[in-house]
Amino acid sequence: MSRNNRLFMLIMILLLLSGCGTRVIDGQQVDKKDKIIIKFSHVVEENTPKGLAAIRFANLVRERSKGIIEVQAFPNSQLFKDGEEFEALSRGDVQMIAPTTSKVAQLFPQWQIWDLPYLFDDLDSVHQIMDGPLGKTLLDQLHQKNMKGLAMWDNGFKHLTNNDHPITKPGDLKGLTFRIMSQGILEEQFHSFGAATLYLPFNDVYQSLEEGRAQGQENTISNIYTKNFDQVQSYLTLSQHGFMGYAVMVNEDFWNQLPAQARELLEETMAEVTQWERDIAQKLNEEQLRELQKRNQIKIYTLNNEERNIWQEDFALVYTKFAQKCGTDFLNDVKESLELAGE
Ligand code: LMR
Repeated sequence: MSRNNRLFMLIMILLLLSGCGTRVIDGQQVDKKDKIIIKFSHVVEENTPKGLAAIRFANLVRERSKGIIEVQAFPNSQLFKDGEEFEALSRGDVQMIAPTTSKVAQLFPQWQIWDLPYLFDDLDSVHQIMDGPLGKTLLDQLHQKNMKGLAMWDNGFKHLTNNDHPITKPGDLKGLTFRIMSQGILEEQFHSFGAATLYLPFNDVYQSLEEGRAQGQENTISNIYTKNFDQVQSYLTLSQHGFMGYAVMVNEDFWNQLPAQARELLEETMAEVTQWERDIAQKLNEEQLRELQKRNQIKIYTLNNEERNIWQEDFALVYTKFAQKCGTDFLNDVKESLELAGE
């Protein structure tokens, strides 16, 4: 009997036993060789939307598979940094990763749609695209690199921090160097206002800000708070200028050799955790903003609607660049879907 079939039989027996109310083998007792191990590597702290969702996914999968499937979450770039994760996934050193959509855009340029400043008014409009046909088209692109997209998770909207002066209008960016997580549209976003950019993995951001190699960066409240960027940055502008989300993906060869029941269990659990993750992401960003306010180490400025409109108009050039690189039709399709959803 092949290993897959053995696992399949084992899962079936255990599920039947649990259905009959019989005490089943717990995770510790499942023979190691019969386990499916999924190493899930990511780059943020555990107390973040992605970090907590990875843990919840691991716990639920262990419980539901009676310990046969073990998801091991490795936070904080413990195993691999940005820029190493895709290769690690393709080599099979890890089986699951959840990079930001901006990082996926290094492989598939249309993913930069998520980076377009002020394209999405709120999280509902983000989900409208994520969960609709355009989101599916984007996730399907991953097959080209032997990856399978399982879900899209939120972090939230990004804001600007820097250690030089308050930023209230686009012109205030001029002359500063901002760390960016990905090249392309994010570079354009800063270059179009006379700012320079430094492309760095997440793990190196704190040090680059401390050393002054970059004066500023853009990120969600959750990442700013959990990485203590307020220790090395003086000003935070709540600009909400761009969205940051994640593509949760697995190595496709690994996925295809799993027993069908295991894939089903993983997909169902992932769908459930995705809904949970979206809620927790919003709550955590709100809660951690209050914590930042309490810590009182960084001066916080909130853009009002009028100011936000000015930023939005001034970002027009970034949209033109996106359309040149990724196609006007694609951009129009996304805009149309957003308009329809808003009606
Ligand atoms: C960053 O590099 O700033 C973020 O992508 C980190 C993350 O995964 O949230």
